[in-house]
Amino acid sequence: MKKTIIKGTGKAIPSQLVTNEDLTEIMDTTDEWIQKRTGIKQRYWIPKGEEIGASDLGLEASLKAMKEAKWEPKDIDFIIFATLSPDIFFPGSGCLLQHKLGLTSTPALDIRQQCTGFLYSLATADSYIKSGLAKKILIVGAEVHSTGLDKTTKGRDITVLFGDGAGAVCVEGVETNEDIGVITSVLHADGSGADALMVELPASRLPQRLPLDMLKNDARHFPSMNGQKVFKMAVKKLPQVTKETLKKAGLTLDDIDMIFPHQANLRINEFYREIMKIDKNKIFNNIQKYGNTTAASIPIALNEALKQNLVGKKGDTVLFVAFGAGLTWGGIIYRF
Ligand code: ACO
Repeated sequence: MKKTIIKGTGKAIPSQLVTNEDLTEIMDTTDEWIQKRTGIKQRYWIPKGEEIGASDLGLEASLKAMKEAKWEPKDIDFIIFATLSPDIFFPGSGCLLQHKLGLTSTPALDIRQQCTGFLYSLATADSYIKSGLAKKILIVGAEVHSTGLDKTTKGRDITVLFGDGAGAVCVEGVETNEDIGVITSVLHADGSGADALMVELPASRLPQRLPLDMLKNDARHFPSMNGQKVFKMAVKKLPQVTKETLKKAGLTLDDIDMIFPHQANLRINEFYREIMKIDKNKIFNNIQKYGNTTAASIPIALNEALKQNLVGKKGDTVLFVAFGAGLTWGGIIYRF
């Protein structure tokens, strides 16, 4: 039977380190406020004034993942690109990345599922592989948040949370009877909560999708968030979907060696850990260093955990779990 196996991972982190202290120079905030509420100590943003899009960070992460997988660009037969911060309004960043890889006809699909983007991508890749539509799939989660944030005190509740970055994973269909690879996927969405976390402009539903006075008076091109609603939903949905995913796989938490929650907020992940009574060393967090990199957060975390040999041994079983804008949430169990 065909199984979806991870062959390589890579990450790309931009060069400009932005500490909480740095943010205090541009807005009314403190290191203490940010760390206490979110756990974040620093994040990386693309250098000011440089034109670096999500596909550029995605390319760097992809080349590293492909090197590890021993793939040439021509080996890829499908690209899945998850981002909420595409290089341009359209076409999708997957097409831009495909061109940067020197490819001319390889199909490319963009996934717009925000913090759950990597899970939707991996589940989609798994289905493509198992149905025989593709064999070698490049999955990328990449975000450039920093060019779209309100960096004044008005935007401080959101701006302090987000960092730029990319993670890439090469997955391949392998014929085996072993119980390895993607074991189970669970995906959900609830569009009634779309306005809890969104960027409204440009909006095709408006008579004028980019109002002319936008830059001066209109904040709708910045993210807006009902932080408390998102927090409450996250700590409810993450445990729910964990139980649902484990049940679908016929496993329990004891069978899981490491959990990779989306890195939205350390407090959310701590609440989740306490509710689920999960051992501290069974959860991988790195939001302290990178902030919330949305679709990139899980592939970056996976890359780091593999490099640190925390997971990756034959039989190691991991759970990816995420909640975010959409609203969207999901869980995937993967066995090495
Ligand atoms: N620095 C200093 N003060 C701030 C900042 C800041 N960066 N941001 C907001 N404040 C102030 C507010 O103005 C408010 O002041 P006031 O009491 O004088 O009105 C006070 O701090 C409290 O504001 P709240 O918004 O009530 O703060 P809260 O305790 O809810 O924390 C936070 C805000 C951290 C966003 C929280 O709601 C949260 O963690 N929500 C989850 C959302 C999340 O993590 N989103 C990430 C993206 S979604 C995802 O990836 C799942």
